[in-house]
Amino acid sequence: MANTNFEKYKSDGSLPGNLLEWVDARFPATAMWKGHLSEYYAPKNFNFWYFFGSLALLVLVIQIVTGIFLVMHYKPDASLNAAGIPVAFASVEYIMRDVPWGWLVRYMHSTGASAFFIVVYLHMFRGLLYGSYRQPRELIWVFGVLIFLCLMAEAFFGYLLPWGQMSFWGAQVIVNLFGAIPLIGEPLSIWVRGDFVIGDATLNRFFSFHVIAIPLVLIGLIAAHILALHEVGSNNPDGVEIKKKKDENGIPLDGIPFHPYYTVKDIVGVVVFLMVFSLVVFFAPEGGGYFLEYNNFFPADPLKTPPHIAPVWYFTPYYSVLRAMVWNFFGLDAKFWGVVGMGASVVVFAFLPWLDRSPVKSIRYRGPIFKSFLTAFVICFFILGYLGTQAPSYWGEKVSQVCTVIYFAFFLLMPWYSKIDKYKPEPERVTWK
Ligand code: HEM
Repeated sequence: MANTNFEKYKSDGSLPGNLLEWVDARFPATAMWKGHLSEYYAPKNFNFWYFFGSLALLVLVIQIVTGIFLVMHYKPDASLNAAGIPVAFASVEYIMRDVPWGWLVRYMHSTGASAFFIVVYLHMFRGLLYGSYRQPRELIWVFGVLIFLCLMAEAFFGYLLPWGQMSFWGAQVIVNLFGAIPLIGEPLSIWVRGDFVIGDATLNRFFSFHVIAIPLVLIGLIAAHILALHEVGSNNPDGVEIKKKKDENGIPLDGIPFHPYYTVKDIVGVVVFLMVFSLVVFFAPEGGGYFLEYNNFFPADPLKTPPHIAPVWYFTPYYSVLRAMVWNFFGLDAKFWGVVGMGASVVVFAFLPWLDRSPVKSIRYRGPIFKSFLTAFVICFFILGYLGTQAPSYWGEKVSQVCTVIYFAFFLLMPWYSKIDKYKPEPERVTWK
């Protein structure tokens, strides 16, 4: 504790000369600054893959701030206005055309949703590359998977709000999936919708979840994620535990204070990210139909189903897994197994810390089998993602079935192949060029 008169201020309540000392006697401001920044020792060999955690935080802030301004003008109301347009849809158009800078705020938020998933996917991939989910970071990873689930829910609820054709029919398809659950399916989907079809009740509850319930949980989980990280310390591209080698003051020999070293390094990531983000926001906010779908520029029409309903790109790998399941098993419908497969394809990530049996963490020291499985997994993830954006077809179905098998094989065969695979011994200290 930096403050010398700590006990005095605490006991007699007198005002100190130094405001920070006064605060520190009542709140651990300096202690937190030190513990999480200036005396949090991070490995000195971080590379660009380590930008994505702080970038995820940046996108979170962008989404919250732009979201606050959108809510000032957006109306979650499915009734029709005098022109026969749903009020919710019209309020988004009002934001785009009449609210000063509204177009910018809206495009930042809609592009921000895709940016969030790009950043988080890269962040997760870094975890796979360097075995960051391995002991002692299992909880960081599990919190991460929960964050990912929340993020998916947040994006799904948010997508209904513009009340366009894709919002309406996409939500209809996904909520109908609950109907596949035996016995309780039908009443459950009516309960979720609050109506027999997606309607005003659905819009209002999705709005409530999108603006308050999920963000609260998300922020709590992110705090837990970072607290867990700072408890055990960061992994690094070598997968070496820097806490094993400390100097006489107990400071890791391969560690450097997070602040100023990585706060300054992260600014480089932030600047590059903001350049790319601005390019998309200003020049391609629809992202070629991937970030904002063509059909969502038409108001929701319950009487007119669009010819091809596809979720936004970040959901399409799991949507392909759903569509790949075409067989009835154990007297249960293929749709049910599709839902199970889709859920499992996300939840399976949570088990990685216990599936991986390799003696080393980082890809740098892993053998050819792990590298091949990881490469096959990534290729299949992209193929599934692409197929999910396309209309169903015979070959699409066959290819997505093969990719689904490889996708799950990566996880389920890991206890076996990670054990028999060759590996190079990890170095004693981090390597650093
Ligand atoms: C809103 C979403 C998220 C935010 C804001 C976030 C934030 C962060 C931050 C700031 C770090 C430290 C910096 C870094 O290592 O890059 C970190 C580390 C980490 N995150 Fe996340 N994260 C998010 C989602 C996820 C997800 C979805 C996963 C995995 C399923 C995950 C797994 C990890 C792991 C394993 C680490 C430790 C990495 C290491 O030490 O090598 N995170 N996260």
